[in-house]
Amino acid sequence: MDYKSINRQTWNQLADTGSLFARVATDEECRKPLTVLDGRGWLPPTVAGLNVLCLASGGGWQSVLYAVAGANVTVVDLSESMLALDQREGQRRGLNIRTVQASMDDLRELSDESFDIVHQPVSTCYIPDLVPMYAEIARVLKDNGIYISQHKQPASAQISHRNERHQFVIGVEYYHTGPLPKQIDDAYRESGATEYLHRLDELIGGMCRSNMALEDLREPMRADYKAAVTHYGYRGRFVPPYVRMKARRVPRTDADRSTRSETIWTP
Ligand SMILES: C[S@@+](CC[C@H](N)C(=O)[O-])C[C@H]1O[C@@H](n2cnc3c(N)ncnc32)[C@H](O)[C@@H]1O
Repeated sequence: MDYKSINRQTWNQLADTGSLFARVATDEECRKPLTVLDGRGWLPPTVAGLNVLCLASGGGWQSVLYAVAGANVTVVDLSESMLALDQREGQRRGLNIRTVQASMDDLRELSDESFDIVHQPVSTCYIPDLVPMYAEIARVLKDNGIYISQHKQPASAQISHRNERHQFVIGVEYYHTGPLPKQIDDAYRESGATEYLHRLDELIGGMCRSNMALEDLREPMRADYKAAVTHYGYRGRFVPPYVRMKARRVPRTDADRSTRSETIWTP
């Protein structure tokens, strides 16, 4: 089976078995949706009337919060079970949420320059090549549109196990290509999924090279100084699991637009 079919199946299973990652927005969260979505102040003061793409973001959390805040929401995800949660919660709350089953690197169903915000939770680990994905995000974002994303840090993906002195061992090479091997330490990995390591060059450089300018970058802290050595909070003391970024679509020039229309109309 190819990696997309494996990941689709894995995420269907996670959604159908009530995984923590398929947790829908609660009533309490819906009372202050923007604060819950955005503790860093990266979003505008209101998203009412804005077109928001929740990318690889099925599960009824981000979509519901943006819709409750008044945005026009589209969710793209590979897993029909994750999208079913967005549909179910949308209907239950009387919200209009559009769902599209597609891969994050092929957004052909979405029009050019149609979104004010693209919000992508951790998911780039499920595809081997970020170049087509970034090109698609840059295509569907309006000029100056906001791109908020979270990714697994490469160093975290490199950890293979904890040795007898409770030190974390880098067992995977930084330049590893292809699916990540199974590891003894599988914290921050979804069992059954095919995952890929992305270097900072690909994650950050690749985004900047796709006409999205970085405005802020955070490393969510997951260190827990009281946690047992077997707990992921202990591991978080040594390696940050995630990186979060805010970027903005660089406005297109007349030359960009004419190149694109030539490409479209050339027989
Ligand atoms: C960590 S979950 C994110 C959703 C969740 N709402 C959250 O807040 O964390 C990752 C999502 O990526 C989706 N996914 C995996 N591979 C994908 C792909 N190639 N294209 C689109 N979505 C994909 C999964 O189905 C899953 O819903």
